[in-house]
Amino acid sequence: MEITTLGKKLDTLTGDCLILGVFENEGVRGPVSAIDRAMKGRLKTTLSSDGFKGKFLETILIRPSGPVGLNRIVLVGLGKREAVSSDRLRQAVGKGTSVAKKIGTTSLFVYCDPRLLSKKGAVLELAQTLVEGVILSQYRFDRFKSKSSKNKDDKEILSCTLVVPDEKLCADAELGGQTGKAIAAGVHYVRDLCNSPANVVTPSYLAKEASLLAEQDGVKVDIFERADIEKFGMGAFNAVTLGTEEDPKFIVIEYQGSASKKSRPVALVGKAVTFDSGGISIKPSANMDQMKYDMSGGATVLGVMKTLVQLQLPINVVGLIPSTDNMPSGTAVHPGDVVTTLSGKTVQIDNTDAEGRLLLADALSYAARYKPTAMIDLATLTGACVIALGQHAIGLMGNNKTLVSKIQGAGEDCGERLWPLPLWDAYFNQIEGDVADLKNVGGRSAGTITAGLFLKQFVGEIPWVHLDIAGTSWYSDNRHAYIPKGATGIGVRLLIHYLSKSARRKKTSAK
Ligand code: BES
Ligand code: ZN
Ligand code: ZN
Repeated sequence: MEITTLGKKLDTLTGDCLILGVFENEGVRGPVSAIDRAMKGRLKTTLSSDGFKGKFLETILIRPSGPVGLNRIVLVGLGKREAVSSDRLRQAVGKGTSVAKKIGTTSLFVYCDPRLLSKKGAVLELAQTLVEGVILSQYRFDRFKSKSSKNKDDKEILSCTLVVPDEKLCADAELGGQTGKAIAAGVHYVRDLCNSPANVVTPSYLAKEASLLAEQDGVKVDIFERADIEKFGMGAFNAVTLGTEEDPKFIVIEYQGSASKKSRPVALVGKAVTFDSGGISIKPSANMDQMKYDMSGGATVLGVMKTLVQLQLPINVVGLIPSTDNMPSGTAVHPGDVVTTLSGKTVQIDNTDAEGRLLLADALSYAARYKPTAMIDLATLTGACVIALGQHAIGLMGNNKTLVSKIQGAGEDCGERLWPLPLWDAYFNQIEGDVADLKNVGGRSAGTITAGLFLKQFVGEIPWVHLDIAGTSWYSDNRHAYIPKGATGIGVRLLIHYLSKSARRKKTSAK
């Protein structure tokens, strides 16, 4: 979708379809009243006869008359003004875009009014938010549909013009719009990877995708094979790979965006189990197909790295993706087997379905060698997290209060919310091994916490957060305004937001 910017008064616009937000119970005010005047008050009467109040995500389609040069206007309710947030705007514009698409719009105007958010000078941010909502809401996954079952009549929205009330705002709106477009592309990339089935997205497939990044300046990619994983001494990661015939891969992507090569990086670690059958501790068959999504953490790391390159953020970041299938077979790891991790700690694998923490334990120890300023891991780690937080929050754990609160703040800002859980030592006895240092399962209670506490044993003193995205990485229905059913691509917006902020902080502290 092409994104452009235009500084113009709404009543002088000519074109196909405009999306315009309206606050609840504020009636015809501000920009809407200019259109109403041009329509000789007919807009006002339509709204009151249809009972449109501007409730959050309520929509109404207007076919303007008189001198208004627009064919259609989609009014979208923004809810109460005092409850406005950038995520509500993102949802509202997403909803409006879906209505516009349904009626066959191919070129769209979106009104980008800085007064929508109370913060001054927020056009850049607002433009980014709106473009994210427009593009993300239009995601479709038809890679595996043959031509005959693709809907040929379905027209795509080809262009979106952000309309700002003053020419002077165009430059900021343009920059925000292009940033939003790059971020949305990163999210779509992750959604595509996650929605693709496990017979296509294998560890080798992910490794190939990573290798493509190496063609860009400032990016170095290493792909480590089964023999390397063994040689490094990654006994926990290796154990998970024993049952599958797919070659496991340990993918390491170094992005140097900072002028100084020596500047310590942020490390991102993502679980990429391309299919989690559970191994010998096999899962029940109902919904097992969903375990193709068990590579979401790794896909997000790939998507973030790709977006970082696109945006050229001035920061060093290393992405680490341990990837394998988790399958049962005659060579698979047995429940009860003991392995030695890269850190030297031993683990008794009581349940082969708690495999994510095994991959991550070794990848985190490896990541620590970069002496990163922060380590962030993302993983569809526990079913318990889905029970605790549902689909609305990422489970957030860590060993450093400042980092935890920065990440939580970044999530609030960008609409990918997280909620903290404690990693108290009091839980440790649940994962203390009988015949080894640790065991990989901590019983039924506090399953998300004991998984997080297990990871904590491998990060040492480095500031670290663990994001359990089991509940948030795919949706089983179409309830959300800009996240269609299937993979959500969660984590890309969060991490790009966090990394942009840290890059800015670094720049100001260097001055
Ligand atoms: N990949 C699963 C976690 C999962 C379950 C993610 C459902 C999304 C939805 C993970 O590897 C797993 O199987 N965890 C087990 C751990 C248990 C054996 C301690 C779980 O949550 O049941
Ligand atoms: Zn599992
Ligand atoms: Zn898993």
